[in-house]
Amino acid sequence: MKPPSILFVCLGNICRSPLAEAAMRDAAARAGIDVEVDSAGTGEWHVGNPPDPRSIAVAAARGVDISGYRARRVRGEDFRRFDHVLALDPQNLRDLMAVAPGDTRARVGLLLDLVPGRAGEGVRDPYYGDAGDFEAVWDDVSAAAAVLVGILRG
Ligand code: 4NP
Repeated sequence: MKPPSILFVCLGNICRSPLAEAAMRDAAARAGIDVEVDSAGTGEWHVGNPPDPRSIAVAAARGVDISGYRARRVRGEDFRRFDHVLALDPQNLRDLMAVAPGDTRARVGLLLDLVPGRAGEGVRDPYYGDAGDFEAVWDDVSAAAAVLVGILRG
């Protein structure tokens, strides 16, 4: 049977969603859960680029190597292929809804809606921030990954 699949989506696919992908891969591996994980962006400026060096550093500090990730833009097929498409902030959720094809099968939602007390919130864009902002992103996406692992465990 096909494992459950989750796509994380932010704006550039170089700061936040690669960290969401990394945190989920790491949490699932630790829990021994088989899940297909990927990330994408609603924007196209960074397509083909590796993650932001500050995201690479934050993940590396947790023992997760994301230097081989490459940014891509979300595409129509993603809404059929993935079980869940999770936006990192409300604006990206609106942008996803706007491009979701009519035959969308995925459940499209907001990542932090999963985390108790954080419903409706976005993971703050750290692009113009500092290392501490990237640490905050890691904390947010790890909290969501822990909830997702709990859900997938059943
Ligand atoms: P991300 O961060 O959406 O978390 O990957 C950003 C990356 C690039 C830009 C904005 C946010 N940008 O404006 O180029």
